[in-house]
Order: sequence, then structure tokens, then C-alpha cells
Amino acid sequence: MFTIAKNALRPTLTRAFGAGKAYKHTLPALPYAYNALEPYIAEEIMTLHHTKHHQAYVNGLNAAEEAYAATDSTAKHIQLQSALKFNGGGHINHSLFWKNLAPAKEAGGKLVAGGLLEKTLIRDFGSVEAFKIKMNTATGAIQGSGWGWLGYDPVSKKLEIVTTANQDPLLTHVPIIGIDIWEHAFYLQYKNVKPDYLKAIWNVINFEEAEKRLVGAIAN
Ligand SMILES: [Fe+2]
Repeated sequence: MFTIAKNALRPTLTRAFGAGKAYKHTLPALPYAYNALEPYIAEEIMTLHHTKHHQAYVNGLNAAEEAYAATDSTAKHIQLQSALKFNGGGHINHSLFWKNLAPAKEAGGKLVAGGLLEKTLIRDFGSVEAFKIKMNTATGAIQGSGWGWLGYDPVSKKLEIVTTANQDPLLTHVPIIGIDIWEHAFYLQYKNVKPDYLKAIWNVINFEEAEKRLVGAIAN
């Protein structure tokens, strides 16, 4: 009798444990201190951006995945798609973004001279400066909130600049560098002057990480 009862409970326990394990996304730690990107990105922005905004996407993603798993209704699943996309994209994008950045006294702003990234940027954009101008122009032109990306297109095998709206993640390309152009990323420091934020951020772009992503993208 005990055996029957134990077996009867097993599917429920397995499902509950599996759901808890699979849907508990957590906020990744920042790889540097909140004030480490000063003066280019203020400590207050980094603190709020990481602990409030990114945490909200993590919470929203967990809630959406749990709600999805809790029902077999196709209509409910469809209803949850936008929450999954928004919060899942927010979690993916910000997790990439923190690694995209590094303090200026460390790897920030230092493109590896003669490296694969520099060579490929020159091949695909003419020069590193021309690439930065093109990326800033495209990112600054996003209406509302979104992201500017340097992505590697696995079909054309070229680096390209792409923008995504809201928290849509970059799915057509392998993300190499992403720039968050939501107001929460810059407004406390740069107010409405997006070009100043976009100019400053290159001082803290982690080109070593970008180089690694490009090497990985080409190898795959
Ligand atoms: Fe953000």
C-alpha cells in the first residue's frame, strides 16, 4: 500500500521539483563594482539598472514560465507569449550587456590591436571609427526603447549593425556588442542627450569580451 501511495505521488513531486528547478532564473552578479564605470556611467544608474530593472525582468520571466507550466490551455500559453518575450529578452539582453562593459582602467575601451575584431570591423565598415559612428547613429535613431547591436551574421559571415525594439533579443545574428538605449540606462546622467551617452559608452565597452564572442561565432 505504501508502494502504491509513493508511486502515485511521484509524478506530482517530479513535476513540482522540475518546475522549481527549471524556471528559477536568478540575477547574475555584476563582474565589477557599481561605481567602476564612472565617470562614463554613474554608480546610481548601474545600481538601479542592475538591482531594480534587471531583477524585474528575472522576476517576470520566472512568473511567466511558472504560469506557462501550470496550465495546459493553449489560449493561456498564447496569452503568456508577450510576457515571456519581454521578460526573457530583458534577462538575456542585460546578462549580455553587463559583460559587454568593463572599467576604463581595465579592459574598457581597449580594442585588441591587430585582433580578429579590429580586422573584421575594418573589413566590414572601412574603419573602427566609421563603425562606431554608424552604430551610434543607428542606436540613437531607435524610436522609443530598444537595443543597438553589433552582430555577426552566420549567413553572410559579416559583422552588421542591427537594432531591436523594446526587449526583443537579437536572434538573427550572434550578439557581439549590445547597447541598451532604454532611458533607464542613461537618463539620470545624460538626460535627453542620447548622443553624449552613446559617445561615452565606448570608453567602457569590453572589447576583449567582444573579441571572444566573435571568435566563438566564427568557429560555430
Ligand atoms: Fe536596461
